[in-house]
Amino acid sequence: MQAVSGHAIWSSRFAFLMAAIGSAVGLGNIWRFPYLAGANGGGAFILVYILTIIAIALPILITEILLGRMGKASPIMSMRRLISAHGASGLWSIIGWGGTVGAFFVLSFYSVIGGWAIHYVTYAATGVFAGMNGDQAGALFADLTADPATLIAWHTIFMAVTVFIVAGGVKAGIERAVVILMPLLFLLLLGMAIYATTTAGFGEALRFMFDFRFQDIHPSTVLAAIGQGFFSLSVALGAMMTYGAYVDEKESISSSAIIIAIADTSVAILAGIAIFPLVFTYGLEPGSGPGLTFVTLPIAFGTLGSGIIVGIAFFTLLSVAAITSSISLLEPTVAWAEEKFTLSRVKLSILIGFGAWLLGFLTVFSFNHLAGFHPLAGLGLMKDKTFFDIFDFTTSNIVMPSVGFLMAVFAGWVLSSGVVAKALGAEKAVWFPFWRFLIRYVAPLGVISIFVANVLLPG
Ligand code: PFF
Repeated sequence: MQAVSGHAIWSSRFAFLMAAIGSAVGLGNIWRFPYLAGANGGGAFILVYILTIIAIALPILITEILLGRMGKASPIMSMRRLISAHGASGLWSIIGWGGTVGAFFVLSFYSVIGGWAIHYVTYAATGVFAGMNGDQAGALFADLTADPATLIAWHTIFMAVTVFIVAGGVKAGIERAVVILMPLLFLLLLGMAIYATTTAGFGEALRFMFDFRFQDIHPSTVLAAIGQGFFSLSVALGAMMTYGAYVDEKESISSSAIIIAIADTSVAILAGIAIFPLVFTYGLEPGSGPGLTFVTLPIAFGTLGSGIIVGIAFFTLLSVAAITSSISLLEPTVAWAEEKFTLSRVKLSILIGFGAWLLGFLTVFSFNHLAGFHPLAGLGLMKDKTFFDIFDFTTSNIVMPSVGFLMAVFAGWVLSSGVVAKALGAEKAVWFPFWRFLIRYVAPLGVISIFVANVLLPG
């Protein structure tokens, strides 16, 4: 079945859920969440993270899917349609543009990190992890990131797979794959979390993750938590809006969004439970940054009797989780280009993927040749950041919260209550006024106050 704009419609609600959970669950849960929690005080970060998911990211996720379904097109075109249908100012088109351009930037670095995951499959398969200690695992990761040629090779493979899937259309291949692979990833992670409970550092890890020391909560912790919530739920980059455009009118958006948020948060917490006990058992530094997952888990795989198999399985599934997210980062731009140009979907996917691939070189070099180069050294918050750090920080902590803020204000203040309730199929729902309160007041004010606090009280 085709939507009004010529785009496809998901074959079932389950397919949409798997694709959306596939988008949400990715490197953000298993790679980014643990290292951010590690660098931002552990329990304090996790508590704030969960609260901001409930109060801000989830209500905006509902909004984003809804705006997509109302517009039934790429984010840029959907916003244009909504603006003309409801007589809103043309300035609101920034929601579509900001998200789409942001997704393109995230794709550029996401593909480099996804490449690490694929490369680690080959390490696991060739027994590289056997008997490795913390220092050796750290050195293995440092050697990889110091080597631009290898990084580029895996970045190329990751981007090629992403382009291949998007070029072929999301339905047949991806819908079928995610249905099997996402539950498998969850089970494996559960197994690893159970293994982690048997290690010496388990108690310390639990204290680190669940002891809430309020003095650890700074404005920057809250900004990082909000940014991570957006990143992890794939909110505000147009990915969910594009997927929302392919959702059938009869389906309940709110319950789907709640399922997506619960699945996504459980995977992140489970990843923390799998990783932190090893961090403490092997005397590693929880705040060590982007290498955390790639340094800790190989140690466990190297110790386990069946480590080779589990290692291969884990990094394969991490790669798959990353791919099911990266396709949702490429899709918004491709959907827009399809509406705009007469070139085929295949050509457009290749062209746009090529652009993001090239941009990815700046991330590759951020870990080696340009590791000491801080392009925005004169700018307070950005002063000691590499290109990768700037892309990562700017998209998650500035672009996503700003676009999310605008989505909330647009749906909360520009569209009337009646229009939104009808589009959500929630005219009589008891939760509707509560959701509307969250997107009219809580989410926008929460985002603004945390921005202001970060500018006034940096660090
Ligand atoms: N949610 C993905 C993750 O956690 O890895 C990353 C992501 C995908 C962010 C799609 C944004 C997006 F639009």
